[in-house]
Amino acid sequence: MKSELRLGIAGLGTVGAKVAQLIERKAELLAERVGRSIRITAISARDRSRGRGFDADGMAWFDNPVELAEKGEIDAFVELIGGSDGVARQAVEAALRRGIPVVTANKALLAHHGVALARLAAENDTEILFEAAVAGGIPVIKTMREALSANEVGRVYGILNGTCNYILTRMEKEGISFDACLKDAQALGYAEADPTFDIGGFDAAHKLAILTSLAFGTEISLESIFIEGISKITIADIVAAAELGYRIKLLAVALRTDSGIEQRVHPAMIPARSSLAQVDGVTNAVAIDSDLLGSILLAGPGAGGAATASAVLSDIMDVAGGFVPPTLGLPPSRLQPYHRARMRAHEGGYYIRLAVFDRVGAFASIASRMAENGISLESIVQRKADRKAGEGTAPVVLVTHDTTEAAIRAALDGLSRDGHLSGEPQMIRIEDLD
Ligand code: HSE
Repeated sequence: MKSELRLGIAGLGTVGAKVAQLIERKAELLAERVGRSIRITAISARDRSRGRGFDADGMAWFDNPVELAEKGEIDAFVELIGGSDGVARQAVEAALRRGIPVVTANKALLAHHGVALARLAAENDTEILFEAAVAGGIPVIKTMREALSANEVGRVYGILNGTCNYILTRMEKEGISFDACLKDAQALGYAEADPTFDIGGFDAAHKLAILTSLAFGTEISLESIFIEGISKITIADIVAAAELGYRIKLLAVALRTDSGIEQRVHPAMIPARSSLAQVDGVTNAVAIDSDLLGSILLAGPGAGGAATASAVLSDIMDVAGGFVPPTLGLPPSRLQPYHRARMRAHEGGYYIRLAVFDRVGAFASIASRMAENGISLESIVQRKADRKAGEGTAPVVLVTHDTTEAAIRAALDGLSRDGHLSGEPQMIRIEDLD
């Protein structure tokens, strides 16, 4: 057997503690599988006195994770602190400068600094592994970087935020309001400390930025992602979606178009019969369309101590076994610059819900604004007047054939100017999925 792999772990929260417990509990199995024992020799966390369910005797304690990365007697550094900057970034950079491989679950760090870190790693003849950074325990990074390495990816998309999927699922199944579902998600510990990170779509966007780079061999471009969260979705939209044969999910999508790569995170209506529509609750799912393999869907736990630890451990075992591919699938010098396709050029169908004053000319205005922007309607239905929304106001639901985002925005701007609407129009994109 080769000499042992000495690990330094910084960050002993839910995931870090679970990783340490599993390294202790599964020591024999891990050693047998990689032909080498794995031992934690150094740890760092905020509070030294807390019991964390593993035996820390013999592990060097560091108050400062950067010092651990700089001076610890380690062969690999595991960063589970979180955050795109601060000590997490400093510690990762310090380990890489020593030529020590880094294992991390930190999506924000990679989404913001992934390319620079991949360069630093390559310069020091080492790499970063980050299976746990996207969709928790689902092995999507290895799938894209290794199993699909001979494929050309056309589109990668999925449900990348468990909190949003939990909220939308409960709104749909139980008719409970958005706010009440969010409170429950927080109480159950699904939501991030700041829930806007989840419900605003930012958490999913960080994960998508990483997937896009792996899918298309491009530099990471978080700032190019069009992001819209789920807080404006109402029960009325969910009911209308069901009637039209759709379900509403917060979707993260990256695809190659003629004008560049489109990256977007937004609520979408997806066919109720599609595989992705069956993914409920906190479960995550990632679908990949590629030339050789066709379409695949990976689904499973996107968060949680054991599931995320499973992904971290698989990276640690790769390091132990000497299997360390380039951080972003390619040497950083071969990553292509990211060319952004503008959201205004996005093509697809749209669901629009309008609150219309129930009077002469309202429908004529809708029809003419759609026609002047070249938008063809698949259906238009005026529903029973909603008394709560004001006397004489009727909800009108439209579904369009494929058109562009620019055309829809121009039509909605025109409609708002015509003065027949009693409130902001609701617009949800329709995603054509199998
Ligand atoms: N807060 C995230 C989610 C989990 O709800 O999916 C960690 O990425």
